[in-house]
Amino acid sequence: MNPVHLIAGARPNFMKIAPIVRAMQARGMPYRIIHTGQHYDRDMNEVFFEELGIPQPDVFMGAGGGSHAEQTARIMVAYEKCIVDDRPSMTLVVGDVNSTLACAIVAKKAQLPVAHVEAGLRSGDMAMPEEINRLVTDSISDVYFATEPAGVAHLLREGKAKEVVHYVGHVMVDNLLFQVDQLKRTDANTLEGADLKAKYPRYGAVTMHRPSNVDDRDTFAGIVGALREISQTVPLIFPVHPRTRGNLEKFGLDLGPNVILTKPLSYMAFLNLWRDAAVVLTDSGGLQEETTALGVPCITMRENTERPVTVDEGTNVLAGTDPKAILAAASTALSNGGKQGRVPQFWDGKAAERIVAVLEGMLK
Ligand code: UD1
Repeated sequence: MNPVHLIAGARPNFMKIAPIVRAMQARGMPYRIIHTGQHYDRDMNEVFFEELGIPQPDVFMGAGGGSHAEQTARIMVAYEKCIVDDRPSMTLVVGDVNSTLACAIVAKKAQLPVAHVEAGLRSGDMAMPEEINRLVTDSISDVYFATEPAGVAHLLREGKAKEVVHYVGHVMVDNLLFQVDQLKRTDANTLEGADLKAKYPRYGAVTMHRPSNVDDRDTFAGIVGALREISQTVPLIFPVHPRTRGNLEKFGLDLGPNVILTKPLSYMAFLNLWRDAAVVLTDSGGLQEETTALGVPCITMRENTERPVTVDEGTNVLAGTDPKAILAAASTALSNGGKQGRVPQFWDGKAAERIVAVLEGMLK
């Protein structure tokens, strides 16, 4: 059997392919890791490969940077060349980033089967680049792996046959549980940010990078004001994404002395911080799910979520981006210990095994 191409390009992709790599290794299924280069700084990529326990990429396409069209087009051109040299039996894409979209289109036009992991999520918000990536990828894939019941429902409503839609749980959670286990065997004091954890007995953790939050000055300034105010009650530790760092400087925004900014952290270093945070404030998709998986209270600074199970069953509160609403949600979480939740079905560390079992059946 020719190898399955596993496509990874931006930070959250690396965590999602890691358990698939491990499951394929365990079943002796051939694979190749294709890194598009969408994220290129060491902090944003190499460091993840090292600690996720997966081999370095087989192919690095170096197609990062630039506008959406430039980035997507460069990845498409590079991947088209790649599959001429190394024809896979299938292309597997994860998530909703530009690399997901670009490689799915190229593979499909080359008559290769396409598998989409984390399929069917919908925010209903067409201003979100990821929503467009999700819709296009799901419109052309051949097999779908959903993380939550809403994903299955969307795919069926959009006319997919139920034989090709599989509810398997979440590879992001597989990886999280794997890393929690690794963390137990690691001297946490050696991790970046451990000094902050030692210094502040109670703190919040923040991540923010969505264009809708950080590219518009007024929206960003409003959120910065809310974070500044929350940090009067608990210090906030905030590893800053390059896009966010650039716009903080460009707009001259000041988070005040109690918001501690760090460079982007490795997965394990950040896990060590957020798992013990009093509250997590974020606009990330993955962190909404990871906090639900570990029962940590989460406030999502977005108007919508494509991951409703984290609100319906988990610890996530959708606050929106109005500073008053963020403050109110934080104040509730900090005074009552935060929202309690339960872990969704199949978020049990075995999603990748379920996926690989289905792929084996398809490719034999
Ligand atoms: C991308 C994904 C987003 C995901 C996020 C995780 C899309 C449409 N967006 O957003 O869904 O949540 O990754 O981090 O695919 N930059 C660097 N160094 C890097 C990477 C980026 O400096 O290693 C800067 C560059 O200025 C770049 C900008 O960040 O232009 C944005 O990077 P890009 O990959 O386009 O999107 P993200 O905002 O990271």
